[in-house]
Amino acid sequence: MNSQTNLFGLIGHPVHHSLSPEFQNKLLNLFDINAAYLAFDIEKDQFENIKTTMKTLNIKGLNVTVPYKESIIPFLDKIDDSAKRIGAVNTIENINGQLIGYNTDVLGFVKMLKELDVDLDRHKVVVLGAGGAAKAIVFALEKLGVVDIMLYNRTIENADRLLENFNFDTKQTLSLQDFQIENDMLIINTTSIGLNESESPVAINKNVINTVLIDIIYNPFETKLIKDAKDHGIYAVNGLPMLIYQGIESFVIWHKEISNPFYYYDNLYDDILRKLVD
Ligand code: ATR
Repeated sequence: MNSQTNLFGLIGHPVHHSLSPEFQNKLLNLFDINAAYLAFDIEKDQFENIKTTMKTLNIKGLNVTVPYKESIIPFLDKIDDSAKRIGAVNTIENINGQLIGYNTDVLGFVKMLKELDVDLDRHKVVVLGAGGAAKAIVFALEKLGVVDIMLYNRTIENADRLLENFNFDTKQTLSLQDFQIENDMLIINTTSIGLNESESPVAINKNVINTVLIDIIYNPFETKLIKDAKDHGIYAVNGLPMLIYQGIESFVIWHKEISNPFYYYDNLYDDILRKLVD
């Protein structure tokens, strides 16, 4: 580090469990960029100072996490179209004092789905949960051309409100309790229920074929939902790839000189994954 070192970081509350500092600094090292990435735990009563702080200290970019992804919006000078539609920002770029907001969760999810090679035309698409994460994922699914969607949530009104803003040929909102596992489903769990290792948002109680499940939780690495799914013949994965890909997308926004990190560094994903899981 020297007088030319640029500062990047993460804001949220709490942030001490975040993998982003390790991950972003690893990327900075790989590409030999003179910058550092730190985690800032911001108390709610200090949050209003974020714009001035970022501009005064010339912080070049920030990731935004819970609980500020929505409340950051009024502090920004510009917001990209996806982030506007979702109503949540997880990445800020500071260009000469102009603060621009993006949502890279969408691209992170799209990239993960592409890697899984799921044929969306051959699956019934089911989303569990209707919070902020669900919104980004439903937006991604709409962008990918999904025509029918089923959204299961504890509170049906939240599910209805979420789907109001999206265009699908058929959209059903249902209670989590009424979920039944079937063949040929693509299930994406966005609820926070699996954070507790003994809990699962839905019961999986019969064997099925050609069903794929993504639980966006990655800590615990295998939620009860993933374990139950695997026990019943379902291909099930956690949300670590989405986390890594959204982080790489943020990195690309900030470090445009490296327009496609995968092109320059073939093993990028595996390298980061190994580092995080070790
Ligand atoms: P995030 O922004 O991370 O998606 P969130 O906005 O708090 O988090 O959303 C959490 C989701 O998990 C919601 O769908 C919530 O359901 P409600 O809309 O009914 O609140 C769901 N959720 C959280 N805890 C739950 C629980 N114990 N049982 C059922 N659903 C739960």
